[in-house]
Order: sequence, then C-alpha cells, then structure tokens
Amino acid sequence: MRFAHLALLVSLAGASPFDTSSLSIPTHSGVSYDGYHIFSITPSSVHEARDLVKRFSRYHTHPIRDALSVAIPPSDVAAFESLGLNARLVNADLGAHIRSIDSMPHSYDRTLHKRGELPSLSWFDSYHPYVDHLDYWDDLVNAFSKNAKKFSIGKSYENRTIYAYHLFGDETDGGYQTEAAEKTQKPVVLWHATVHAREWISTMVIEYLAYQLIDGYKSGDANATAFLDHYDFYFVPFHNPDGFVYTQTNDRLWRKNRQPRPSLNTTCIGTDGNRNWKFEWDAEPPEGGSTPDPCGQTYRGEAPGDTPENAALDALSAKLAAQGTGLRSFIDFHSYGQLVLTPWGYSCDPLPETIDRMVYVANGTARAIEAASERGSDYQAGPGCQILYFSTGNSRDHHHAVHGANHSWTLELSPIDARGGGFVLDPKEIWSVVKEQWAEKMAKLTVHHLQIGQGERIPFLLEELGIPYEIKLYQRDPFFSPPELKEKHPMGASPLLEDATSDPENPLLLAESGAIVDYIINKYGNGKLSLPPSHPNYADYLYWLHFSNGNLQPTIFRRFQARMMAADQQDPRYQNTDERVKRAIGHINDRLSSNKYLAGSEFTAADVMTMWCFTTMRQFEPIDLTEYTGILEWLKRVAERPAYQAAMKRSEPDLDLEAGISAKGPPAFVPKK
Ligand SMILES: *[C@@H]1O[C@H](CO)[C@@H](O)[C@H](O)[C@H]1NC(C)=O
Ligand SMILES: *[C@@H]1O[C@H](CO)[C@@H](O)[C@H](O)[C@H]1NC(C)=O
Ligand SMILES: *[C@@H]1O[C@H](CO)[C@@H](O)[C@H](O)[C@H]1NC(C)=O
Ligand SMILES: *[C@@H]1O[C@H](CO)[C@@H](O)[C@H](O)[C@H]1NC(C)=O
Ligand SMILES: *[C@@H]1O[C@H](CO)[C@@H](O)[C@H](O)[C@H]1NC(C)=O
Repeated sequence: MRFAHLALLVSLAGASPFDTSSLSIPTHSGVSYDGYHIFSITPSSVHEARDLVKRFSRYHTHPIRDALSVAIPPSDVAAFESLGLNARLVNADLGAHIRSIDSMPHSYDRTLHKRGELPSLSWFDSYHPYVDHLDYWDDLVNAFSKNAKKFSIGKSYENRTIYAYHLFGDETDGGYQTEAAEKTQKPVVLWHATVHAREWISTMVIEYLAYQLIDGYKSGDANATAFLDHYDFYFVPFHNPDGFVYTQTNDRLWRKNRQPRPSLNTTCIGTDGNRNWKFEWDAEPPEGGSTPDPCGQTYRGEAPGDTPENAALDALSAKLAAQGTGLRSFIDFHSYGQLVLTPWGYSCDPLPETIDRMVYVANGTARAIEAASERGSDYQAGPGCQILYFSTGNSRDHHHAVHGANHSWTLELSPIDARGGGFVLDPKEIWSVVKEQWAEKMAKLTVHHLQIGQGERIPFLLEELGIPYEIKLYQRDPFFSPPELKEKHPMGASPLLEDATSDPENPLLLAESGAIVDYIINKYGNGKLSLPPSHPNYADYLYWLHFSNGNLQPTIFRRFQARMMAADQQDPRYQNTDERVKRAIGHINDRLSSNKYLAGSEFTAADVMTMWCFTTMRQFEPIDLTEYTGILEWLKRVAERPAYQAAMKRSEPDLDLEAGISAKGPPAFVPKK
C-alpha cells in the first residue's frame, strides 16, 4: 500500500519535493490525532490550488475559501515544512484540540419533555450519538404528528436504515389536508446533511430548522406557517450514517462511507458520497474534481452512483422531482467555510443557463445570513467551480441537472476559520451556527413608504405581527411621489409591499394599503389582528376595517378640496363637506366611547388602518378633536403600543408622536422643496 501511495503521489504531483516515503495513512481503528498539525495553505495560483488538492488527496483536507486546510501527522511535519509552501500553522496538536472541545457525544434525555411535545432546546448544547438522533427525530415527528412523517428510503452499506422526514403545512381552510393533495401542488424543498461523516453540525442545523418550523407552525408564527403552507419539506439528516457512527467510535475525522472495495485489491475503505452522484461523475476538469484512488479522501467509487447510500437518495430525489411542481430548492449542508455554492462544480464552461438567477438568490441568502448573524459571519456565493475548486459527481450538480432543482446548493456553514481548521467544530459554536441559518429563512418583505402618508400603517401592522421587514423611505416631491417611487407601480402609489418570500427572483408587488393589510393578515397573520366569521363582532371588524379608506378619508379629502376652493368657512360648499366630516368623526367617536377598540374589545387591523387618519393625516387637513374624547383616549391607547412606536421610529423618525395624538393635532405639512 505504501508503494501504491507513493506511485500515486508521484504521478499526480509530478516531481514532488515532498518526502513521500514517510507518509502514513492513519490506521482505521482508535485513530489518534495527537501531534497532528493543521496547516492552512494559500496557493499562489489556481493551478497550484488544484495541484495541492491532488497532492494531499490521501490526507484529511478541507478547503476554506482560497486556502486548503490539511492535517499532517507528526512524522510528516518536518517534510511538509521543507516543501516551502505558503502555509500557516493553524493548530499544532489536533488530538489535544479534539479532546479540549468536548466533542464527545452527550446522551439525550427524553424525560425533559412530555411525549407529544417538542424536545428541550438543550439538545443544541452538545453533540449526540447516532441512536439519540433517531430518537430526537421521532420526538419531532410525534410533536407534529398530523403534519410530519418519517419513512425509510433504503439502507446504508452497513445496513442502517436511511430515513427521510417529510414536514408539510396546510393551505386550506380549517384543517389538515391529505398528504396526497398536498403533493400535487407544492414545490419541494430537500435538505441533506452529514454526507461527510465528520461534519456533525450539518445534521444539527437541519434539526434546528425542523424544530423551528414545527414550533413556529404550532404556535402560529407567520414565518413558519408561510413556509410549511407553501412548500413541501423533506429532510435527510444522515446521508452517511455508517460514517457518522464511525466518527464517534473510531475516527473523529472520518469523511467517506464505510464500503470496502475488494475487487480493487485494496484495504482502503470508503467512497466520498459527494463525488459518487451520477451526473458528470467522471468529467475531466482541468485538474481532478475527485479521485479514482480508493485510498483518496475524494474517492468517487468504481461506477457512477455505486454506493447504497447514493442509490437510496437518488431514488428519493427522482420521486420528489416528479411530484408537485418539482424541486425548488436543494441544499446539501456541509461544515465549514461560509459559502453558498451553486452549480456547476464540474466545469465553469458553460455555466447553467439560469446561472444569473441562481447566483442572485444564493447571494441574497448569503447576505441574509450575514444580516441575521450574531457572530459577524461573512459568506460568499457563486458557482463552486469559480469560487472554490472543481468537484465532479457532487450532489448540487446532480440535483440541478438530473432532478431539475431550480436552486441547488452546497452550503458550507459557519465559521470561516477556527482552531479546528475546518475539520471539527467546537460544540460551543452550535447555537450561533444554527440560529443564523434559521434567521435567514424569515419572511422577506419590503415596504416602500412615501413619508407623511398612509404607508405608515404597514410597518405598524408588521410590527404588531412580529414579522421582519425592510423599509424604503421616500420623500414627497414636493407633494406627491418622487420619480423613483412612481416608476415602481403604474399608479405611482405608496405604500407598496414587495414580498420575496415565495419567489425571491420575482417578488410580488402589491399597492393599496387596505389590500396590503388584508394580504398580510391572511397570509402571515395566522388569525392575529383579525376576527373570524364565527366571531360575534365579525361584521363590526369588517365595517371598521373598511371605514377609513371607504368613507373617512375621502370625506376629509373633499373638505380639504372645498377649503382650497371656498372663499371662507361660510361658503356652502365648505359647510356641506364640513358637516359630513363631523358626522363621520362623531360616528367613530360614538363607537370608541363605548368600545375599547373599533371592532370591540380586541385590537385589530381596523385600528391599524384608522390610526393614521387622526394622527399624521391631520397635517394635511386639521381637525380639532377636543370634543371627541372617545377618539382621544383611543389614540392614547394605540400610541402606547410598542409596535406603533417601533413602526413610527422606522417610518417617520422625525415626527412628534405626542403632537400627532393631541386634541389640536400636529403642525401643518410643509413641503421640503
Ligand atoms: C447487510 O444485510 C445483507 C442482507 O441481510 C447481508 O447480506 C449483508 O452482509 C449485510 N451487510 C453488512 C455490512 O452487514
Ligand atoms: C418571524 O421571524 C422574526 C425574525 O426572527 C421573529 O422576530 C418573529 O417573531 C417571527 N414572526 C412571528 C410572527 O413570530
Ligand atoms: C493485490 O495486492 C497485493 C499487495 O500489493 C499483491 O501482492 C497482489 O498480487 C495483488 N493481487 C492482485 C490480484 O492484483
Ligand atoms: C451580492 O449582494 C451584494 C449586496 O446586495 C451586492 O453588492 C453584490 O454585488 C452581490 N454579488 C453578486 C455576485 O451578485
Ligand atoms: C424551476 O425549474 C423548472 C424546470 O426547469 C421551470 O419549469 C420552472 O419555471 C422553474 N421555477 C422557477 C420558480 O424558477
């Protein structure tokens, strides 16, 4: 074997100065990494980068951005250093590091939660044994029994069952829809983890995402509900269960599966599950994207898809691609390096037809993770062949080319660099990594708001619902929308809601504040801020929801026009409109004198719609509310709401809110130009 190894190195690396005679491959049981050095090599050219991947093909390596981490056994350190590579020592004792970070799996205490309820979040404090992961998933499924299903997709080489988990929501009214009906409609999201056995965090990330989807759906969280109602989620937490178990019993750095290759007369074990996919399995990039050497860490197998794990996963993907509207998103989670890699890995020439859209969406995700990150994460996005290195037979190329996944990624999680050099992650990092992945998945709403206008209703509503949003502010020019807002919509209207949740490439654009409020409460409100038809005040709710834009606002606006035209307040044209304004306001005042809120005892979207009419809108048409104590007290109650204050801070930071709710009202609007 040593000779085979030597020959390989020579043939791949040419006249390598590396003293290959001293190379040793770790033995396969009870592997110790004591004294192993982790070096981070920064190659000077793309050619050198590819050459390094090949030269260290039998070592544990991990690319991180434009550097390659490599674990060098103590016996080879001197020889390595004599190579004169541009290398930085990351860690001088990998074994000590592995022991120091408590990478021992902790057992799972199922008594911390009641059966049928979600498990304790303390799960994410540490790593866990394989059997506990299976229990954990059973508990997740039990906690969401009507909307979750576990099923077997096949067996690993060592005959472990490979499980997939299906989570689905319910877009129909009043209850659970059959799984069959769901399947005909929805785009599929498929997530894989732990194809590389040592990347333990990747499974924990999809466990956290599944947990949040279930917990959010059960508690009415807008984000989770929108996801589960619009997509069919499938998770494969363990692509490579045999390898995973092996990392916990024998070799923490094990990467491949556990399949021997007796026909090749080799004692080396394992195939790289992320080089065994059929698509372009043996493509020949300029420098190797996998290796035919069964001892290599990126060994591709003897034939495309010849591992039992690949057969199981590929069959599942084929099935999912044919269902609903097909695979919208495929993500293979890896650890680590902070990258969102799109196809292709095997070649950059040509790139996929839809590459611009792919990179646009991947880049959006990268930026969203950064924005959500508590650890200051810094992600890169783009085709693997461009921003990392060539890889053939990988899952993202295959899922895009063969299964039609619109967005097909390898996601290298955080961090970017650490003492583990890309090989092992301190369990102390689990929380920050899983949290930034979930936070990225939130609703993606943007509100376009023309200041001193009714658009302030939308942030108010979103703050009440706890839905995150971006806000873009525009100033009146001098009275109406500026050109950059006018060109966004045929009516040049404000507010505008942009919703990129379902389709980041083609966000939905909606105008009319009443329509936007309806859209948000129905789509993301999950029953909050509205009353259902069964509620005794349902009709009141609808009446007052529509009253502001249907009656109050046009009535006040007519008086404004009459005031502009009339000579004085004795003018009958003014008096006529004034009488109507007073009637409308008296009507609201009566309502609010005997009810806490417009729809009755509950604060609803009707209050959100009406608030601005008596605050900011009075800048255009003054209304003295001194006699209307019902309205004044309601204004005070509403203005005290933290959501109102938060929304006004973001939408109208310069306004004096106290003046807005005072009896005399705010000072008149003065155009800036
Ligand atoms: C898996 O199960 C099959 C059928 O029982 C058996 O032939 C095979 O030897 C088993 N493989 C391993 C690695 O145990
Ligand atoms: C949606 O996600 C955001 C951001 O994490 C969160 O603050 C909010 O509570 C979630 N929405 C709801 C309705 O819970
Ligand atoms: C297998 O490898 C051993 C040791 O390298 C060698 O002696 C033997 O001839 C090989 N057998 C075949 C069939 O190639
Ligand atoms: C990614 O997004 C950032 C911020 O929006 C932008 O500046 C950058 O040009 C984008 N990069 C690509 C490759 O699209
Ligand atoms: C996804 O890809 C399929 C197949 O190429 C295509 O028909 C569909 O329009 C795409 N969907 C989106 C939302 O891009």
